[in-house]
Amino acid sequence: MPIKPILVIGGAGYIGSHMVQALRKANLTPIVLDNLSTGHEESVFDTKLIRGDMADTALLNQLFAKYEFSAVMHFASFIQVGESVKDPAKYYMNNVVGTLNLLNAMVRWKVNKFIFSSTAAVYGEVRYTPIDENHPLAPINPYGHSKRMVEQMLEDYSRAYGLQYAILRYFNAAGADPSGMLSEQHEPETHLIPLVLQAAQDPQKTITVFGRDYKTIDGTCVRDYIHVSDLCRAHLLALQALRQGMQSCTYNLGTGQGYSVQQVIDTACEVTKRPIKVVEGERRPGDPAILIADARSAMQELSWRPEYPELQKIMEHAWNAISSTELSS
Ligand SMILES: NC(=O)c1ccc[n+]([C@@H]2O[C@H](COP(=O)([O-])OP(=O)(O)OC[C@H]3O[C@@H](n4cnc5c(N)ncnc54)[C@H](O)[C@@H]3O)[C@@H](O)[C@H]2O)c1
Repeated sequence: MPIKPILVIGGAGYIGSHMVQALRKANLTPIVLDNLSTGHEESVFDTKLIRGDMADTALLNQLFAKYEFSAVMHFASFIQVGESVKDPAKYYMNNVVGTLNLLNAMVRWKVNKFIFSSTAAVYGEVRYTPIDENHPLAPINPYGHSKRMVEQMLEDYSRAYGLQYAILRYFNAAGADPSGMLSEQHEPETHLIPLVLQAAQDPQKTITVFGRDYKTIDGTCVRDYIHVSDLCRAHLLALQALRQGMQSCTYNLGTGQGYSVQQVIDTACEVTKRPIKVVEGERRPGDPAILIADARSAMQELSWRPEYPELQKIMEHAWNAISSTELSS
């Protein structure tokens, strides 16, 4: 019997649009719900896209009745830490209240498989590194809190209503589909790799290094970059495991390997063969020196392995995607 469609909320965004293609490659049928607040219609290609908001109960009822979804993958949220500090209401309304509305629709329509995009921001101040899933949860900004609140709701809904969930805590998502057909396009962009590549593309642009006095290999902050295609494979494996009866679970997704800001800039120069102008900045409050995932649970329990753990490949794919846009514009 064919598997019923999968509802991908936020499927027009950076990670969601990659997921939609990964589902199609796996012969599954994604249907996208996206309000296009930060997403891009063209990133969905010819997959069914419903333009709408997860806070719209009537719309959700209509969709759940029509499509009889077998599972929901949830990528829809606002994601800028700085903005969440200035405007927490926006974050709690969308990321928490919107998700609550979605979960209630799932309970009503008896759809009980759910995959949630969470984040390393739920850990807050780093007590030890690499960070495993047992690290204390103490977010330090409304974005992180909003994700932690949803995690708590999932635990409670699972106990009370039998929801089966996989919480996937991404570290720094990066790269692009190797084909070059999709790219990371946030507005404004706050992620290091696309910013560095934009500085390579446009001689008017610079990249700011926030602090060179951290206790790291070269004084700049170290992060764990995980290729977006590797994230998508982890989602497919988590979905399969939930279908096979795996209990609800929470996994970190990262490579377990860190790269410094300076290493990212050096690699970008190598890959793009272009000069990149660097500006020195002060440390930013709340930036830990090192943020690296211990993702062994996902590796052991889902048999997941990052296919592209090297920064060079992540950067090549991201550059390939950006350059395709450069050529076509
Ligand atoms: N990008 C990263 O490095 C990273 C790291 C950790 C976690 N995450 C999480 O991964 C998820 C996807 O991130 P992304 O980088 O692809 O973000 P994105 O902004 O590119 O995508 C989010 C998508 O959700 C849609 N959306 C937002 N609110 C909606 C709503 N109420 N109803 C319907 N659609 C809505 C947007 O239009 C957009 O298409 C987010 O939940 C984010 O918190 C991302």
